Amino acid sequence: MKYPIDMEITPEVEAFFDEPTNTISYIVKDPTSDACAIIDSVMDLDYAAGRITHVSADLMIDRIRERGLTLEWIIETHVHADHLSAAPYIQQELGGKIGVGEGIMIVQETFGKVFNEGTEFQRDGSQFDALFKDGDTYQVGNMTAFAMFTPGHTPACMVHVMGNAAFTGDTLFMPDGGSARADFPGGDAGVLYDSIMKVLSLPDEMRLFMCHDYGPGGRDIAWETNVAEEKANNIHVGDGKTKEDFVKFRTERDSKLTMPKLIIPSLQVNMRAGEVPTDEDGNPMLKVPINGL
Ligand SMILES: [Fe+2]
Repeated sequence: MKYPIDMEITPEVEAFFDEPTNTISYIVKDPTSDACAIIDSVMDLDYAAGRITHVSADLMIDRIRERGLTLEWIIETHVHADHLSAAPYIQQELGGKIGVGEGIMIVQETFGKVFNEGTEFQRDGSQFDALFKDGDTYQVGNMTAFAMFTPGHTPACMVHVMGNAAFTGDTLFMPDGGSARADFPGGDAGVLYDSIMKVLSLPDEMRLFMCHDYGPGGRDIAWETNVAEEKANNIHVGDGKTKEDFVKFRTERDSKLTMPKLIIPSLQVNMRAGEVPTDEDGNPMLKVPINGL
């Protein structure tokens, strides 16, 4: 796939770190207009209390209003398993189209079964405004963005590239963080390795913005690196590590990981583009399938 890379465009990137879920959300602004996009927003959930609030999303919404920007896109790099998306709330406040990779249909099929969803739950991605295929382009103001299909962590993962900035989702982490797990349904360590190589085939100076950081070894939280640094220093794939090394390491590591704290609510909400499911009376309600994951 030949991607329309344009390193001459430098979008303004503003990061928002959500401490409870270690997620980094972004506002990305076209340098030549007031248009912007949001990448991977967070809706706040107090799971113990079943309480949802929008403090994190409001920070981004307020910032966009304060800067007088027009929100054109609300992008999900994938169906997150560790936080809830605030996409519908943000869309209601500011407009914009919600987009995700077309692999969402596989995720909906898989988890539609796990959560025993009825026929009213559509498995065709129709909850989203746009479904991206590998190489699809879209406009943020005058800037042409594109999506790269990067499965392995999940079947719906896409890396989104805008000028010299790429938003990696969970395809890879900061060099000292390595990579994300590949053991969720539809995940595959070998496929993830190939996707990471695809990202690392972008120009060396391409800025890479992470979706998560956990501050390994107690360092401060960080979210920006570039292709050259990842190629040289990524602890899971950098500096000559082979696919075989990676698959062996990743598979062993994943077999010891516990489930993310918010996976059960996250999947139910995020596979609906961020809408909370409802019971037969229309009340927002989540399920917990016992021994289903
Ligand atoms: Fe993820």
